[in-house]
Amino acid sequence: MLTVAGTRPEIIKLADIIPLLSRNFEHVFVYTGQHYSPNMKDIFFDDLGIMPDYDFKCNVSDISTLKERMVPTLQQINPEYVIVYGDTNSSMAAALAAEQINSKIIHIEAGVRDFDYAVPEEPLRIKIDEMSKYLFAPSQFCATVLTYENISGRIFFTGNLISDVCRRLSKNSKNIPKDDIPEEYLLLTIHRPENADNPHNLKLLCSHLKNVQYKVVFPVHPRTKQGLLRHNIQLPSNVITIEPVGYADFLNLLKGCRLVLTDSGGVQEEAVILRKPCITLRHTSARWETILLRANILFPPDREDSLQDIVETMLATKINRNPYGEDVAIKTVEILKELIV
Ligand code: UD1
Ligand code: UDP
Repeated sequence: MLTVAGTRPEIIKLADIIPLLSRNFEHVFVYTGQHYSPNMKDIFFDDLGIMPDYDFKCNVSDISTLKERMVPTLQQINPEYVIVYGDTNSSMAAALAAEQINSKIIHIEAGVRDFDYAVPEEPLRIKIDEMSKYLFAPSQFCATVLTYENISGRIFFTGNLISDVCRRLSKNSKNIPKDDIPEEYLLLTIHRPENADNPHNLKLLCSHLKNVQYKVVFPVHPRTKQGLLRHNIQLPSNVITIEPVGYADFLNLLKGCRLVLTDSGGVQEEAVILRKPCITLRHTSARWETILLRANILFPPDREDSLQDIVETMLATKINRNPYGEDVAIKTVEILKELIV
């Protein structure tokens, strides 16, 4: 069996299941190198205590390059099963490589949908779900989506691997106050192309943030840094920018904040797990279970009403359920042990 990761969120989400897979199966862990900067990659392998057996160091995100770099090694290893996580270009490349060498595909984080084909990940997730023999849905909602789509593979609902990693590490993480972090703040992340690459949306977001009556801490994803620089966009003075941080530091920021503003999939999940209200800066979301729980609300940049009002509304929200389950890695591996004899 072989598992592929390629980006920051995949390293984080796979952190608890990789050691279990290695213990229970003949297992190889492969990293494509789509994310390559030390603060997007190495810091996570170091902090989370996992290491890939092969690192292809691709340093690009183009699907065919990622796939071509993987195929010869996968051919040599000849795994019966390839585990593909999520919906990035690395995930798609892994599924295509697996198909080429006639390996069966197991998709973890299956059934996630924005219900918008313009979102770059949407066609990738649907294709990977269609190609997979076994599909592990992170929420009941995602399992239902797969049932409606009449997907041919076998569907399991075990929960979301982030639940284990986030709960385990947030218990351990110490809340050390940092000089540049105020006592009271909102936490912001932005990286999706619809925001980070779009100067109009970046400017709209800046004017909304300017009217928010809180300090906002913003670890800036490299894509967003480029977008801001390219279009010469200045963030308002209540926004404190920092470099992307390691996972323990990010969990500390999340635990310490009043509320989360984000366009990240993983951060929407972690917000509900840690009971922090979330405002998603998009017109859609692939985390509908958090919206159904009213722990999360959509606020696309072109909204004309006040973000500050939505912040106050969400600050009054009580979050009392985690839709992502627990002991997810163990449950997933137990099912895999039954399926793969
Ligand atoms: C990718 C995924 C997205 C996921 C996100 C997690 C695809 C299509 N997108 O988006 O689903 O939510 O990762 O963060 O796979 N860069 C660096 N250093 C890095 C990584 C990226 O400088 O370590 C810069 C590069 O200039 C690169 C740009 O960021 O061109 C975008 O990176 P890319 O991997 O293409 O997409 P993400 O926006 O990171
Ligand atoms: N994250 C982190 N440091 C940061 C920003 C985010 O460790 O500075 C973590 C966050 O906790 C979450 C993951 O990165 O687990 C989300 O990654 P991202 O937002 O890049 O991608 P997405 O989840 O949208 O695919």
